[in-house]
Amino acid sequence: MDQLAHLYHAHIGELNRRVAEICQRENISGLVIHSGQPHRQFLDDLNYPFKVNPQFKAWLPILDTANCWLIANGQDKPTLVFYRPVDFWHKVNDVPQAFWTEHFDIQLLTKPDRIADYLPKSLTSWAYIGEHLDVADILGFTARNPDAVMNYLHYHRADKTQYELECMRRANQIAVKGHLAAKNAFYNGATEFEIQQQYLLEIGQGENEVPYGNIVALNQNAAILHYTALEHVNPVQRLSFLIDAGASYHGYAADITRTYAFEKNRFCELIAALNKVQLAIIDTMKPGVKYTDLHIATHQHIAQLLINFDIAKGSIEQLIEQGITRAFFPHGLGHMLGLQVHDMGGYAHDERGTNIAAPGDHPFLRCTRVLAPNQVLTIEPGLYIIDTLLEQLSISAKQAVNWNTIDELRPFGGIRIEDNVIVHHNRNENMTRESGLVD
Ligand code: GLY
Ligand code: MN
Ligand code: MN
Repeated sequence: MDQLAHLYHAHIGELNRRVAEICQRENISGLVIHSGQPHRQFLDDLNYPFKVNPQFKAWLPILDTANCWLIANGQDKPTLVFYRPVDFWHKVNDVPQAFWTEHFDIQLLTKPDRIADYLPKSLTSWAYIGEHLDVADILGFTARNPDAVMNYLHYHRADKTQYELECMRRANQIAVKGHLAAKNAFYNGATEFEIQQQYLLEIGQGENEVPYGNIVALNQNAAILHYTALEHVNPVQRLSFLIDAGASYHGYAADITRTYAFEKNRFCELIAALNKVQLAIIDTMKPGVKYTDLHIATHQHIAQLLINFDIAKGSIEQLIEQGITRAFFPHGLGHMLGLQVHDMGGYAHDERGTNIAAPGDHPFLRCTRVLAPNQVLTIEPGLYIIDTLLEQLSISAKQAVNWNTIDELRPFGGIRIEDNVIVHHNRNENMTRESGLVD
C-alpha cells in the first residue's frame, strides 16, 4: 500500500473519533459538512475562483468541487455526496477513485437543490458546518456552525495527524523547487512578473491553486508586507529580492520566504545575520514552550542585530521598550500552518473556546499557543525599512536611530526568512530546509 494511503487510514480514523467525541458531548447526531457554493462576481456571469470549506478538505482532498456534502457521525462510514451534474458548459469531475475513496459511501448528486434527498431526515439534531447559513436554514438545520463544535474542531486542527504531516512535507518539497527556480530567475535578471511565472511553472500549480497570493518583490517593494503587485519592468538597479511563496499538496499549505541580495554588501550580511536569528529561534522550539515567548525572544535578537549593524544604538531593553524593534519587525513571528496558510486555532487554549489574545504590544501575533508535538508552525522573523513606522517613533527613539544606515538600507526594502517546522517530542523537523532550501 502507498505510504499516504496507509497514513490516511489512521487520519480518517482520528477524524471519526473526534466527531464521535464532540457529538456525544454536545448531544448531536453528527456533522453535515458542506464543500461550499460558487460565488458570483457582481453584475457578471462569472464566478470567483472556488475556495473549498477547510473543514471539508480536512476529510478528503477534493478542492475544486462545489455543492458536495459530507455526512459523518463518528460511528458509521461517512457519506460523501459528490456533485456530478449533467453539464456541457463546465468540466464535470469524474467520480472519485483514489486512495481515500474506500473510506466513504459515495453518492452522486446531479442537482444542487436535490441535496435534501441525501441528508438525514430530521436535521434538527445534526450540525451544519459550512459557509452558507441561508442554505442550511432552508434545509432545516437549527445548529449551524455551533460554537461548541467549532471551538473543538479549531483547537484540534493544531494536532496534525501523520497523514497531514506527510502532505505538508510534500507541499514543502514542491515549494522549495519553485524557490530555487525563482532565485535563479532573480540572478538572471527576470522581472517580478517573470519570476512569478517561473515559480508557478516549476511547481506546476496555477495562481488559484497555490495557498496564497505570492509576494515577489524586488528592491524597495520588499518593504511592503503584503506586496502582491507584479511589476513587468525591472528596476534600474537590481539590489534585492524577497519571495514569500507557497505550494499546496492535497489541500495542505507550505508558506516559505527567502530574501536575496544581488551583490555581496552590507544588506547581504544582514540577511545572513537574520538567517542565524531565525535558526536560533527554531532551535528553542519544543513542547511546553509558549509561542508568544519565542516572539518576544525574537525582538531581543532583532535589537542586538540593530546594534551590531549600526542601525540603532542603546541597550537591547531600550530598543524594545521604545518600540524601535517593532518599527523594524512589525509583524508576528509566525502562525500555525495546515489546511489554511494561517490555520485556525492560533489563540485557542482548550477545546472549549478559551482564547488568549496576542499581547497588547504585539497585536499582529497570530499564535499564542503552547507548543506540543505534531504542531506545525512558521517561523518568519523580518527586518524592514518602513518609513511610515519610523516616522511614528517618539523623538527620543528617533535619536537612537542611525539615519545614515537607514538611507543606505532603504533601497533594499527588507528581509524576511520563513520556514515551516514540525514540533516533535524530542526534536524539530524543519521541513523547508530538509527539502533542500538550505539558506
Ligand atoms: N505568506 C503569508 C505569511 O507568511 O503569513
Ligand atoms: Mn509567508
Ligand atoms: Mn507565514
